[in-house]
Amino acid sequence: DTSRPPLVHVQGIPLIKYFAEALGPLENLQVLPDDLLISTYPKSGTTWVSEILDMIYQNGNLEKCRRAPIFIRVPFLEFRVPGFPSGMQTLEDTPAPRLLKTHLPLALIPQTLLDHKVKVIYVARNAKDVAVSYYHFYQMAKVHPDPGTWDSFLEKFMAGQVSYGSWYQHVQEWWELQHTHPVLYLFYEDMKEDPKREIRKILEFVGRSLPEKTVDLIVKHTSFKAMKGNPMANYSTLPPDIMDHNISAFMRKGITGDWKSTFTVAQNERFDAHYAEKMAGSKLSFRLQL
Ligand code: PPS
Repeated sequence: DTSRPPLVHVQGIPLIKYFAEALGPLENLQVLPDDLLISTYPKSGTTWVSEILDMIYQNGNLEKCRRAPIFIRVPFLEFRVPGFPSGMQTLEDTPAPRLLKTHLPLALIPQTLLDHKVKVIYVARNAKDVAVSYYHFYQMAKVHPDPGTWDSFLEKFMAGQVSYGSWYQHVQEWWELQHTHPVLYLFYEDMKEDPKREIRKILEFVGRSLPEKTVDLIVKHTSFKAMKGNPMANYSTLPPDIMDHNISAFMRKGITGDWKSTFTVAQNERFDAHYAEKMAGSKLSFRLQL
């Protein structure tokens, strides 16, 4: 039974029980020279940037991008749920050049990825929208504990007591990594504003170029609407005891500023004060008013 086990703590970081058990085997990860790591705090645009990168790697070939669900095309390193191939197993069957996905904070990343200077594309999304998206995801993805009420979930999010720990720590430590490691740091809000501009940044970072019409095709195929309707991108191939899309769709709203429909005025004031404390002195700034 995979239903709602409590989180466990690894080096102080709360994790889904099964995923914590994947960390040991992950130490044996064999890096290949052209591996690329997609890193995000959950609910920040992982699936979106994954689909963009697979489309780039397949030169815009839509048929090839429909070959398998996104979690097979882009193996999720720490994924491990009884009855399913683990992320490590999926990776073993993945031909180079490989795209790898993780949500792990730096402290839990397999050291070999850092030693080999594996290129990283990090996507950050503003904390308020992440909290709202995460709340709905906790409800539908049953490897998480019950999130409780929105108010209590928001408190846990602020305290870093949700799966993968503190958003504040995550976005800042991966930002700082840029000083010593090849990282392209993207923002969900920028991708919404001008996806083509952000896809061009990705192309430059991975050292590829594509014809204009292919880039346009990628923009179209990776729109929220297209991905919501694509079973190979929307996680609908998973059984409902893992993800129940009747509770909340994985492709839920795909907008910036949805927090405004969820936060009360009091929650917002409390969040802003706490946020200012946690992000004091940070060079990172998020656009919350979109
Ligand atoms: S996960 O489970 O952590 O890997 O989830 P992740 O993919 O990072 O985040 C899911 C949220 O991203 C939205 N999404 C998109 N937004 C815009 N455009 C596209 N193409 C797109 N694909 C996914 C998805 O709807 C989730 O956000 P919310 O706010 O819940 O809708």
